[in-house]
Formats: sequence, structure tokens, C-alpha cells
Amino acid sequence: MRKIFLFILPILIIVALVLVVMGFLQVRFEEEKLLDDLERKARAVAEGMELSVRDILLTHNLRNARYLVEKFQHRERRQGCAIYDKEGRIFAVTERFADWQEKDRAYIQEVLSALAPRGAVEQFKEYTLYSYVLPVVDEDNKAVGLIEIIHDTSYVFKRLTEIWKRISVSVAALVILITVIVSFIQKQIFILPVQQLTEWFYQFQKGETDKLRPFVRKDELGRLASEVEQVALSLRVARKAVSQEAEKKIRQEDLWTESKLRSLVQAKIGERALCVVSNREPYMHVLDKEVGRIQCMRPASGVVTALDPVLRSCGGTWIAHGSGDADKKFVNSKDKLGVPPEDNRYILKRVWLSKEEEAGYYYGFANEGLWPLCHITHTRPVFRETDWRMYQKVNQKFAEAVVEELPAKNPFVFIQDYHFTLLGKMIKEKRPDAAVALFWHIPWPNPEVFSICPYYKEILDGMLGCDLIGFHVQYHCNNFLDTANRLLESRVDTEKFSVVRADKETFVRAFPISVDPESADAADLAASIDKLRKDYELGDKTVILGVERIDYTKGIVERLLAVDRFLEKYPQYKDKCVFIQIAAPSRTHIKRYHDLMGEIDELVEKINWKHSDGAAKPLIYLKRHFSTDEVIPFYALADVCIVSSLHDGMNLVAKEYVAAQKDGRGVLILSCFTGAARELTQAVAINPYSTEEFADSIKSAVEMPVEERRRRMEAMREIIKENNVYRWAGSIVAELAALKKA
Ligand code: G6P
Repeated sequence: MRKIFLFILPILIIVALVLVVMGFLQVRFEEEKLLDDLERKARAVAEGMELSVRDILLTHNLRNARYLVEKFQHRERRQGCAIYDKEGRIFAVTERFADWQEKDRAYIQEVLSALAPRGAVEQFKEYTLYSYVLPVVDEDNKAVGLIEIIHDTSYVFKRLTEIWKRISVSVAALVILITVIVSFIQKQIFILPVQQLTEWFYQFQKGETDKLRPFVRKDELGRLASEVEQVALSLRVARKAVSQEAEKKIRQEDLWTESKLRSLVQAKIGERALCVVSNREPYMHVLDKEVGRIQCMRPASGVVTALDPVLRSCGGTWIAHGSGDADKKFVNSKDKLGVPPEDNRYILKRVWLSKEEEAGYYYGFANEGLWPLCHITHTRPVFRETDWRMYQKVNQKFAEAVVEELPAKNPFVFIQDYHFTLLGKMIKEKRPDAAVALFWHIPWPNPEVFSICPYYKEILDGMLGCDLIGFHVQYHCNNFLDTANRLLESRVDTEKFSVVRADKETFVRAFPISVDPESADAADLAASIDKLRKDYELGDKTVILGVERIDYTKGIVERLLAVDRFLEKYPQYKDKCVFIQIAAPSRTHIKRYHDLMGEIDELVEKINWKHSDGAAKPLIYLKRHFSTDEVIPFYALADVCIVSSLHDGMNLVAKEYVAAQKDGRGVLILSCFTGAARELTQAVAINPYSTEEFADSIKSAVEMPVEERRRRMEAMREIIKENNVYRWAGSIVAELAALKKA
């Protein structure tokens, strides 16, 4: 609209200017004509009275004079007449102009001396009047007096105002007419074809190919559309061929690889793009204040670690919260960008949240409520009504962002985690045809624990809007089925592992998440390892590693206590071992996390003081975010890696470590409270709460003979090679596709 107006504005200004100038000339002309008319009338009246006035003045007949001037009293327009004697004094005047005397009438003397008539507009009180003065002379042409005819001119100005009004109405009508005509023409010539073309593209994008009608135009837009149509056609043909090829490939390949997953997605989802939703985005643009440069980083998140390779291999759209402080600088008008930044393999759509939304939905409800509720770590969950409202609002906001992206036919949505329990139902309300899967990356508690949440009904109801819900392990699936059975009016089918609620069936399955085993293949690994040994002065010490977000569920404090006990109990290892803890600050605005950082700082300081002998300290605490490329050399270097989570859905650090242990020398110490412990049975299992046993496990790991290490590590590497992240994603896609077909 603004653009149309800018286009029309100059035309309107020119037309209005022309009309105003013409109006001005017309008004001037009309004014002159009316005053001229007035003069003629006044002159005729004055000349008609001339003889009678001469007699009156010569005879000083005041009675006749009054009679003459009073005749004007009854005229319809405001008119009057004054008779003056030869000195210029008023002899008689019409009653309505009785106070005419008070007016400054210098012109009377001028007319008397020049003996020439005079007509002019005069101002008297609040009136504008026309005065015509005619000298009256005797036979010797000597002045005997004057006649002044006075006319009210208000009707002249009324006429002129009317003319101005007419002009204004014409200008306004013309402006409206021009605007309408120009907008109409512009719409016909430019906007409609562009809209048609846009609609055409939109339908093509959404996959509504049956709705596509040929875009027939002979102009430039028509040519553009026909070119695009050709590209679209080749793309469709290519996609079809790829999808058939894909089916063949899946049948041939045993091991799940990037290319097998790609083939499966192409065969099952086909032209529809995979749409993934999570809170945490896979690539974040943040301003590094120290160097004053914007950096693109991959956040420390299990969801990101697992899904980025999946999306890289199959393409699609990932919708997530744009939480980086420089994120807005890198998106297009639809809040999207191609990622990874150096090699755009899929689309990231960023959803913006206000501080209040982030505080209520993310920090509040998701991380102070659901997170401690689902992890048995004895941290009290906090549920606030305001947080819940924000959580609902943000889920709705994401639902709208997702629906915008869905193709016309059989959309496929893959939701991640506890941030979006309501999203499945919200999407289904708008797109009942969508296949929706939710993967729960954290543990699911038993019904008694879950019922603590005041909003458990709405949460379960929202989750059961999905077609498929995935957990890492069967135990969490069972807990979920128990919860639905006990807390909700629903029917649990233990044969099919599904929950039926109001005619909607949701299938519940275990899909153990994993990593891409190839991701640990880094160039120049040996050089990086040497550099680490030098930088941290590790010498030939045994390196024990820990890598995580600073989170109370990860058992970092318990691990430090165990290291302390290990050094206390077996002091011979003080000079022989070094413990490196990589810890990425996380959710720091939550008090529990903030306090935990302080507690760890203190503990590290205390243990280092207690066990250090000279300069060498047993603990190296690296408190910052490390990129994947930075962590891999640590994994490869470490002789022992400790994962001591107090409770964990899966734990991908354990699997990343195994993937990076190419020479099979390393030992994994793994908490029995992780999902990973069910698969990685060759790890040294620990109960992180049992400090004594934990300390002894560190000793046995350090002392484990090379042969045994290799045997255990090889077995675990085999498991990860097979149960990799491509199998995880492939199983979910295949399961959902099969469910939707059935
Ligand atoms: C866990 C959750 C993820 C989350 C990650 C990091 O792995 O399951 O959803 O992304 O922690 O936490 P953050 O709050 O930083 O995203």
C-alpha cells in the first residue's frame, strides 16, 4: 500500500496544484465580475437619484431627502444611501446606516474636490461594504453635494467561498478517482501477476503439485514462470528417481550409514521435508566479547549432537529457539538460514522469544519444573502458574512456526524433548494429517513422581496428540505407559505398546539414541594430542577425563569426591594421574545451577590444594564451552573417561568417548543410572553415590591390563558402530511411516 501511494503521490500533487491555481484564477475573475456588477448597479441607482437630490440640496428639503434615503431601508439586500451637502456633511442617511457618520470618510472630500465618482470596497465595523459616491453639481458645474450608495458585499464573499468549496470537493473527488484507477491498473499489471506467481511457487514448495495450473502469460513474468516450471519439473522427476533408488539401497545395506538413512528418508518421506523441532538450536551466533567477533558455535546438547548429523544427511528444516545474542543478524526475512554455515545442508528456522517467555518457559517450567521432576537427583521441582502459562504460550508460538513450514501432503514432524509436551496436540489440531513423533531425551519417572506436577493431565494429553513417543530405554516406556494408565482416562494396549485416548492411538517405543561413529575422525589427531600433552604439561601421566554441562544430574561433585578419595586411598597415583574436567556452564540463571558452579569451584580448589605436591596439580578444571573439534583430541588422549551421572536418559559423552577410542586403549567408567549403561555393558560400572566403590573403580580402570581394555573397548565400539545415530533416526522414521500406513 505504501509503495502504491509513493507511486501515485507525485501525480496527485501535480493534479491538485493545477486545480488550485485554476480555482484561484476563477475566484479572482468571479470577484472582479461581481464587484463590477455592484458598481454598475450602484452607479445606475445614484444617477437615477441625481436630479431629485440636486433639488433637495438646493432647497434644503430635509423631508424629501429622508423620504428618498428611507426607500433603501426596505430593499432585500443590505443597502443604504447617504446624501451629503457641499461641505461633505451628511444631510440624510438610511436609518440602518445611522452610525455611518462614525466611519472615517476621507474619500468624501476627495470626490468633492475632484468631482469624479468613486466606487470601492470599504470596511465598516464587522461588515465589508461597497460604496459608490456620485458628485451632484448645479448648472454651473459646481458641487452641491454627494450621493453615496452603500451595498453589503457579504453575498459576494459567500459566492466566492462556495466556489472554493466546489473546487475542494472536485480536488478530493479527483484524488480519490486517480488513486482508485492507478491502484487498479497497478494491481492488474504488477501485483496480480506477482501474486499468482508467488502462489504458484508456494504450492510447488508445499508439494501441492496437483493444484499447480500452468502460468500462462506472454510478458516477462510469464517467461520467468515458464523457466521455473522447467526447473520444477526436472526436480520432481529427479526426486522420484532418487526415491526409487533409495528403496533399492535400503534393501541392500545392512549397517546403518548416513547414506542408508538418507535413502530411507527419501523413500518414506519423499518430497516432504523432514521437520525437526527442538528448543536448543544446532548453530548459535554469539558475540565473543573478548575478541569482539561473532562466532558460530554448536551448543553442548545431546539433542544437537545426535540430530545434526541426521539433518546433515537428509536435509529438511530444524525449528528452534534463536537464543544466540547475534542470531538475528544471520537470518533472512523468514528467520531462516542454511546450516552448517560453511556447507548449507539443511535449513534452520529460528523462533524468537522475549525475555519473559524464555524465563517462564525455558528456565522456569522446563528446567526448574520438568527437568528435576524427571531426574531422580533429589532436587525439588518448582512449578509456578506463571511459568506454566508461558510454557503454553511458547508451545503455541512454536506450533504456528511449525505449521507454516509443513508441506501440503502428509507432513512429517519430529519433536524433541520436554520443552514441547503440548506441541504435538497443537500441531494435530491444525494439521490432523501430519505424522508427529516426539522423542523424550531424558528419563520418564514413575506415576507417583509424575503426578507431583500440577499440570500432569494437560501434559499427558498434549503428548498423546502425537502418533509416536520415543524413549531411550524400555524402562522409561513402561513408566510412561503406567503413568498414562493411572493418571489419565485412557486405555493402554500392552500388546501393541500404545495408549488409546478419545479414539486417538499413540505408540510408545524405545529407540536408544547414539552418535555418528565417524564423527570422531578428526584430521591431524596425533598432532592435536601432542599439543594437548604439551599445553597442559601432561608428560606421560594417565589422563582421566570428564566432559559435561555443569548440571547437578551429571554427578560432577560425586566424581570429584571419588577422585579425592582415590588420591587419599592410593597416594602412589598422585604423580602418575591427572584428572581433566571439561565443564560447559549451563542454565546459569537458575540458582541451583549457579550454586553448583560455586560448589565445584570450591571443591576443585580444595582437592588441588590437598593433593598437590609442588607445582603439579591433580585436577585440571576447564570451565568453558568446547567445540566438538576441540573435545575429540581430549577423548582420543584420555586413558580413562568417567561418566558419573546420577540419572541420565542415555548420555552421549559415553558413546562419543567410545567412538573416539580408535586404538581401543581407553577405559570407560559409567554410572549404572544412565541409559547408556544398558548397552555399554563392557564399561566399568559404578554407583556414583558410593564414593568408596567409585574410588576403587578408578583404581581398577587405571590398572586395567591393556588386553582387557582392548577387548572391552572393541566390544563397545562394535555396539556403537551398529547402534549408531542413523539407526536411531531411521528406526523412528520407519516406525512412524509404518504406523501412518497401517
Ligand atoms: C539435555 C536435554 C536437551 C538439552 C540439553 C542441553 O540433553 O535433553 O534437550 O538441549 O540437555 O541443555 P540446554 O538447556 O542447554 O539446551
